[in-house]
Amino acid sequence: MPDDQPLPSPLLDRLHALLGPRGLLTDPADLEPHLSDWRNLYRGSTPCVVRPGTVAELAEAVRLCAAAGTPLVPQGGNTSMVGGATPDEGGRQVVVSLARLNRVRDIDPLDMTMTAEAGVVLKAAQDAAAAAGCLFPLSLGAEGTATVGGVLSTNAGGNTTVRYGNARELMLGLEVVLPDGQVWNGLRRLRKDNTGYALRHLFVGAEGTLGFITAAVLRLFPRPRETEVALCAVRDEDAALGLFRRFRDRDEGAVRAFEYMSGEGVGFYARHIEGGTVPLPGHDHYVLVDLASSRPEAGLRALIEAVLEEALEAGEVLDATIGESEAQRHAIWRIREEHPEAQKREGASVKNDVSVPVSKVPELIRRASEACRHLIPGVRPVPFGHLGDGNIHMNLEQPVGMDPAAFLARSHDIMETVNEVVRDLGGSFSAEHGIGRLKTDMMEGWRGGAELELMRRIKAAVDPQGLMNPGKVLP
Ligand code: FAD
Ligand code: MLT
Ligand code: ZN
Repeated sequence: MPDDQPLPSPLLDRLHALLGPRGLLTDPADLEPHLSDWRNLYRGSTPCVVRPGTVAELAEAVRLCAAAGTPLVPQGGNTSMVGGATPDEGGRQVVVSLARLNRVRDIDPLDMTMTAEAGVVLKAAQDAAAAAGCLFPLSLGAEGTATVGGVLSTNAGGNTTVRYGNARELMLGLEVVLPDGQVWNGLRRLRKDNTGYALRHLFVGAEGTLGFITAAVLRLFPRPRETEVALCAVRDEDAALGLFRRFRDRDEGAVRAFEYMSGEGVGFYARHIEGGTVPLPGHDHYVLVDLASSRPEAGLRALIEAVLEEALEAGEVLDATIGESEAQRHAIWRIREEHPEAQKREGASVKNDVSVPVSKVPELIRRASEACRHLIPGVRPVPFGHLGDGNIHMNLEQPVGMDPAAFLARSHDIMETVNEVVRDLGGSFSAEHGIGRLKTDMMEGWRGGAELELMRRIKAAVDPQGLMNPGKVLP
């Protein structure tokens, strides 16, 4: 079928018969929320949204679409930062929402596992683990909307990677609907399972280009008995890294999150977020330290006070406040979590989700900021993020008063400028958000040659018709 043909009506009829009105949306008003991304970078179109209520329904819908040669776009919470879940403008790509596959099938506090369906919202997975006396540690700003299928398909990182790893490290088994409609049940809950190629890892980070994740076995952890959260104003980027090292050297296992924020970003928070008060205003650099331990009487208060005192004496920390209650700890975290929203409200911005070796973070922030100021006078660097794992969101805000469209027209130059520094420091152009549609044209330059060729062969073997999320990840 030529690319510009709409969905053939026999296929629509079959999907309707299979899924009923709850499982197949065709009304333009119902399609609307599925057509654009959180950043409003892309707006596509789709003839319908398929919302299967069971894995068997999804498998049959995929079989019907494969027989008709119809391309499919998996969608979870649609919080992708790289346009990964948005259909293209051609009008043929069918959006498949996993939202109705939202059951937690099983929690086992002895095996420390949870089996959750793809459409379970991350916050709901955390809550279900907590209700069983356990912790599911993956945590990110979009956790109230992002789904288990989405975080696995992007191999999301977030705030706790420094302690618990990325989504991949939290996954033991998967259930997948393959591009031809076969169901692969790999929902094993084993800590050791060396049985040939680790196929489950192919689907993590594949961004929906190899099949649909329908359920996963996730690793759980003991719930912390003690937590401490502090906001610290630090002298500069080196002092931020120095403080991380002090905590790590004292008790590596205690650091649950270590996040950097620039004074500019904290200022955006104070300006745009309701109730956005900042306990230590007026500094150029901040870090948020979060310590947690499941050990009884771990002594985290003594630890955090001792390290902060040392760092104050050394002139690394200029001022600090420790959360004294759950409400205060939450208020400190909010400053960090609302950064994406505050930046959005300030105006047009260009995001650079990049990583470097942790030791190079200060150099990354300084050199990339400088290079971008040189490129666009008045541009406002807003670096923030996961210093403890080397992933900084090296984001740039438009100069005050500049036409947002004119600024966004420079996106490519800005990303190139940041990426030149990243490459020089041995880093990656895509740390945790993935490639989606935004970064496909960078793949050749960063992963070209044998690596990209191998990815193409895998894609051709698993999805020979090229129907899964076309136009994403692979150029
Ligand atoms: P979607 O956006 O719906 O989809 C993401 C990709 O996965 C798409 O390619 C889609 O096709 C594919 N996909 C979705 N579900 C499935 C499935 N079941 N099977 C196969 N493919 C599927 N990300 C981080 O890593 N760390 C952060 O700290 C972070 N913070 C964020 C803060 C905010 C405010 C926002 C808006 C986003 C943030 N993100 C972050 C990005 C985003 O939340 C993550 O990429 C998340 O993993 C996406 O989950 P989702 O369910 O919304 O997936
Ligand atoms: C976050 O950590 O808040 C997001 O991943 C970063 C972003 O919005 O750029
Ligand atoms: Zn992030």
